[in-house]
Amino acid sequence: MPNEDDKKILVVYYSHDESTKSIAESIANETNADLLELRPIEKKGGRKVRYIWEGKSVSMDPVPELEPYSIDPNQYDLIFLGSPVWAMSYAPPMESFLKEANLSEKKIALFCTHEGLMGIVFQEMISKLSANKIIGTVDFYDPIGSGVNYAANASVNWARQVLKSIS
Ligand SMILES: Cc1cc2nc3c(=O)[nH]c(=O)nc-3n(C[C@H](O)[C@H](O)[C@H](O)COP(=O)(O)O)c2cc1C
Repeated sequence: MPNEDDKKILVVYYSHDESTKSIAESIANETNADLLELRPIEKKGGRKVRYIWEGKSVSMDPVPELEPYSIDPNQYDLIFLGSPVWAMSYAPPMESFLKEANLSEKKIALFCTHEGLMGIVFQEMISKLSANKIIGTVDFYDPIGSGVNYAANASVNWARQVLKSIS
């Protein structure tokens, strides 16, 4: 059984269309982690950036306010952070989380989902997390389109590797 040492593990993610959510849930399930879904608060007006992908347009503040959460990320030994790729980087709610959590001295593993243009998503996240130890990164190409079972299996295998690397 993974996570035999009872390490405190957290999976933090944002998902607009459920792909990243499906990966986050399979990682959390495999590692007995707590799960924190980032939910931006929709506000009228204010600063907005329009993100466009394959005819789909989403307007969001580049650092949106998040719904409050009771989890304290600083209480965890290992944190998985997951985001869909938006405009070749991570989605704005992850920016809000990174700013407000101000993580340091954590073991961190990064995952993203995308549709072929990953851009610099990991480089940008890693540069924001320079006070931490990055122990793994993985990307999933269109997990729902390419078959949830494939992505779920791949994410479980990766989560096991990450756990092994810190035990
Ligand atoms: C606003 C927006 C921007 C996107 N930008 C990119 C991109 O730059 N590169 C890419 O490969 N996919 C891009 N995508 C596709 C998503 O990254 C991909 O569908 C992802 O798996 C969605 O995750 P989710 O279902 O958790 O929201 C974009 C999707 C949206 C909605």
